[in-house]
Amino acid sequence: MSLKLRLLVTMVALVVVTSLVLSAMHLNTVTETWLAHLDERSSTTAQTVKRWVLHRAAESFTHSEQSPASAIRAGYRDAIAADEELPLVLAGLLSQTKSIVEISVADSRSTILASTSRARAGAHMPDRLTLKDLIGLGPLDRMLAILGGAIDYESRVDLGILGQPVPVFRIQVLVSSVLLREAILPSIGSAALASAAAVLIAAALAFFVARISLQPIARLGAAIDDIARGQRLSPPQVSSASEFQVVEQKLRLLGEQFRGAREGATELRGSMERRLAAINRLTGGVAHEIKNPLNSIALRLELLKNRILPEVPEAKEELAVISEEINRLDRVVRTFLDFTRPVEIETAEVDLGVLVDETIGVLKPEALSSLVDVRWSKPTGPVLIRGDAGLLKQAVWNVCRNALEAMPGGGALSVETFREGADAFIRISDTGPGVAAGDREKVFQLYYSTKPQGSGIGLAMTFRAVQLHGGSIEIGSAAGGGAAFDMRLPAA
Ligand SMILES: Nc1ncnc2c1ncn2[C@@H]1O[C@H](COP(=O)(O)OP(=O)(O)O)[C@@H](O)[C@H]1O
Ligand SMILES: [Mg+2]
Repeated sequence: MSLKLRLLVTMVALVVVTSLVLSAMHLNTVTETWLAHLDERSSTTAQTVKRWVLHRAAESFTHSEQSPASAIRAGYRDAIAADEELPLVLAGLLSQTKSIVEISVADSRSTILASTSRARAGAHMPDRLTLKDLIGLGPLDRMLAILGGAIDYESRVDLGILGQPVPVFRIQVLVSSVLLREAILPSIGSAALASAAAVLIAAALAFFVARISLQPIARLGAAIDDIARGQRLSPPQVSSASEFQVVEQKLRLLGEQFRGAREGATELRGSMERRLAAINRLTGGVAHEIKNPLNSIALRLELLKNRILPEVPEAKEELAVISEEINRLDRVVRTFLDFTRPVEIETAEVDLGVLVDETIGVLKPEALSSLVDVRWSKPTGPVLIRGDAGLLKQAVWNVCRNALEAMPGGGALSVETFREGADAFIRISDTGPGVAAGDREKVFQLYYSTKPQGSGIGLAMTFRAVQLHGGSIEIGSAAGGGAAFDMRLPAA
């Protein structure tokens, strides 16, 4: 998950949780207020009924001081049960409040004497959960009770005779939970709406905040890119937060140091190249100075041989040694010149298939005599490059000769040429001992040889030829553990 997304999700989650908690608290407060109001309303109604019943009972039934309590109770009860006006009064009270669904008056045995639901007269008045019970519940239970079942809650007032434990009348006012629910649902709706709006606004804000706060990071990334490219950094942004400014400053410092180091390295390389060129010129000059006298010495030696040998035949051996040494010196000077002189290659279109074929043709007799099986996979079509055919032929010949020399007791020499993408390849592998991984750099060095009579020139020459063509050469291991040389040249 990207940093931006994480910031966004965290901020939105925070707002969701906050708005949920706030909404729940708000709903709770609304419910509590509503219930308190309702409780007051219903108990006021119950009290009003009580006063009325008390008044009517006293009015329509008179008793003497000596009447027994039971007679008084029965008298009151009958008076109220027969009262024609009571149901009308109850109905009037009911119509005043929407939240009250029923008002009933019952006797001590809970038999209904009068009710706003006239059919219920004479029926049993059941006990209900009181509004006070509902108010006493925990917030969650209360909300579930209101939203859950359709239960009616009561407010009850008892009316009795002074000093008597059992009441004469019970007055019940019923409140429906359906009405309660209807009163609270709009509050839930508006809270949900407000929460949704808050979440949307928070998401939008979070998006912008994430964008603004991550901008410096993007800028630091760009600065690092500039440093990598060795460019001068763009001027610092004053709008960045101070933390980022510090990092940016350090980066700037690092960039300057890096640029300095880079310029230093470039300068060093330039001066090294100039120096090397100067050394090359100097040594090249010295080699030339040696080469010319060497030529005339060789010439004179031939003349001297012709003169001396007929008279002093014993000198033949000495003269041969001198001649040999002069030749060796000449070879050294020549290869030295080859390597120091900037070679001008003459490029023409070359078909590598043909070039390798010709080179192998020259090597075939020697391979046969040392029991080496030459496996030349000739390409079906031309493998064209632009290059110097003479130089490349020499390069391939050097590698193949080394392969033959690595298999004195016989083996197999495999050669293939192919094109792959923008490159042409010549792959030469043998079944000799191979080149140890640690020696793979060394074998291309001039004069490096592990052979008693080796010159160490062959692979150095090959390396240089391939390099002059803009290619490369690598050594790997052949399948049987022998050496595998891969020459890559840019295809035409
Ligand atoms: N095909 C090969 N198998 C094993 N070793 C090789 C092979 N080709 C080259 N070498 C190693 O690389 C060295 C350098 O080769 P080269 O430059 O041609 O010089 P030289 O052949 O005169 O020794 C060789 O002496 C040999 O140790
Ligand atoms: Mg060699």
